[in-house]
Amino acid sequence: MDCKIALLPGDGIGPEIVEQAVKVMNAVGKKFNHHFGFSEAPVGAAAIDKTGDPFPEATFKLCMDSDAVLFGAIGDPKYDNDPKAKVRPEQGLLAMRKKLGLYANIRPVTTFQSLIHKSPLRRDLVEGADFVVVRELTGGIYFGEPRGRSEDQTRAYDTCVYTKDEIERIVRLGFEYAARRKKRLTVVDKANVLATSRLWRETVQEMAPSYPDIELDYMFVDNAAMQIIQWPKKFDVMVTENMFGDILSDEASVITGSLGLLPSASVGIHTSVFEPIHGSYPQAAGKDIANPVATVLSAAMLLEISLNLVEEAEAVRKVVDRSMEEGVVTEDIAEGKASKTSQVGDWLARNL
Ligand code: IPM
Ligand code: MG
Repeated sequence: MDCKIALLPGDGIGPEIVEQAVKVMNAVGKKFNHHFGFSEAPVGAAAIDKTGDPFPEATFKLCMDSDAVLFGAIGDPKYDNDPKAKVRPEQGLLAMRKKLGLYANIRPVTTFQSLIHKSPLRRDLVEGADFVVVRELTGGIYFGEPRGRSEDQTRAYDTCVYTKDEIERIVRLGFEYAARRKKRLTVVDKANVLATSRLWRETVQEMAPSYPDIELDYMFVDNAAMQIIQWPKKFDVMVTENMFGDILSDEASVITGSLGLLPSASVGIHTSVFEPIHGSYPQAAGKDIANPVATVLSAAMLLEISLNLVEEAEAVRKVVDRSMEEGVVTEDIAEGKASKTSQVGDWLARNL
């Protein structure tokens, strides 16, 4: 297979972790006889520095012309402490989601046997936890209008908006994921307070009869936040709106003891984007110490979801598991001697 992959390394540790995933993909290409053609484009603060725009038109075009996008991270501290900055790196991420129509963000939450002792939860609670957060990604309060400030600058507002169509397409995906897994779907909302949540619940109730073999339940978001901590194993697929999904997926990832290790996929209308769920970790940028595993596992999701290369994706996951068993890991999870980012990438590529 011959495929075009767009690389958007972005900011902070983005470039060095994407580089490792490319090594692993090239090894996959060699072993399974595929050719991956990589082209790189700027996004985030890196793109603002170059062009003034955090998601330049040329980057968008490259994404549209590619079979899949591998994304590093976005964000730079020089913008975080400047609430008045006119352009922000994060706008690049939101623009990318909107322009590529990436309405669904898939975040699998799994545990790694060798890291369970790092979880803030007791081993018996977290061992075997395995669920997926399906987050709506192009609607809700992230994009609703109007947003802004009153003229005298003393009042600010954001608007949460959802249409029935937006709800249906993401919930359908939730049902489909559940159908392929343990057949349980949890819809997370705040229907006791929010009008948008009541539309979510009404819409799901109308859809439910079409999925008779899926066990469906509804949960208020505050309760869900609590249950993820108390009984992480009871979840299979969770579907929710944009902001709740942002918060719950971070919470969910950390219970595995491995925030730095979890991948994600954003899928929708045009080219899909694969990225680690961790941020740009600016303190580590350029030091060759960041953990590349989440990006490598994002490449595995890319192989499986965008290119339908299931066996290849499995091979990547297997070699990652082995690297952890054998202690070829970066300093964030090392027990003994830590490897460098580039050494982990080389080892994975060599041992695939
Ligand atoms: C995420 C991030 C982004 C979000 C930020 C960087 C805009 O937290 O992908 O979860 O809030 O969606
Ligand atoms: Mg987030």
